[in-house]
Amino acid sequence: MHLEEVDALSNRVFGHPVGIALDGACFGNCLLGPTGEVWGFVIGQSLFDEAELYYIAIDPKQREKGYGKQLLDGFIKACRQRGAATIFLEVRESNEVVIAFYEKAGFQKSGVRKHYYKEGENAVLMRRGGTNT
Ligand SMILES: CC(C)(COP(=O)(O)OP(=O)(O)OC[C@H]1O[C@@H](n2cnc3c(N)ncnc32)[C@H](O)[C@@H]1OP(=O)(O)O)[C@@H](O)C(=O)NCCC(=O)NCCS
Repeated sequence: MHLEEVDALSNRVFGHPVGIALDGACFGNCLLGPTGEVWGFVIGQSLFDEAELYYIAIDPKQREKGYGKQLLDGFIKACRQRGAATIFLEVRESNEVVIAFYEKAGFQKSGVRKHYYKEGENAVLMRRGGTNT
């Protein structure tokens, strides 16, 4: 992966770098523009038959063109290839666009973590696959 560019995009989108180099168990993918610039990335981790999606982001200028779906579909496929049929993630309760984005890809709300984020916002837990779906 293009770690420096991924961190730069993460800084712009999330306000912090992803720092994926710190854990070799993480995997993911980048989407590159025509001149090699990072347009998006997805990062997660799998352990046995379960996976967790940590981050997905598309450069604001490239959104709503199908690239996020492309990256997410690729991540789901990569998880399956690693034997992980169930994927979990957390998302801010207020982030309705992203919750809808995940629902379109087959994720379902599976719970709430109260005051999960530093400033007190709840996290919605979502899950794709597994025994309930
Ligand atoms: C979430 C995100 C990755 C989506 O990427 P994207 O490239 O814009 O999404 P896509 O164009 O592939 O859209 C996929 C589907 O979601 C829908 N969607 C995406 N953004 C939308 C928006 N702002 N409003 C309405 N629908 C939207 C699309 O209409 C599309 O639906 P369809 O398949 O029925 O056409 C992008 O909005 C993003 O980077 N957000 C900020 C980072 C973030 O919050 N990440 C999640 C937490 S880690």
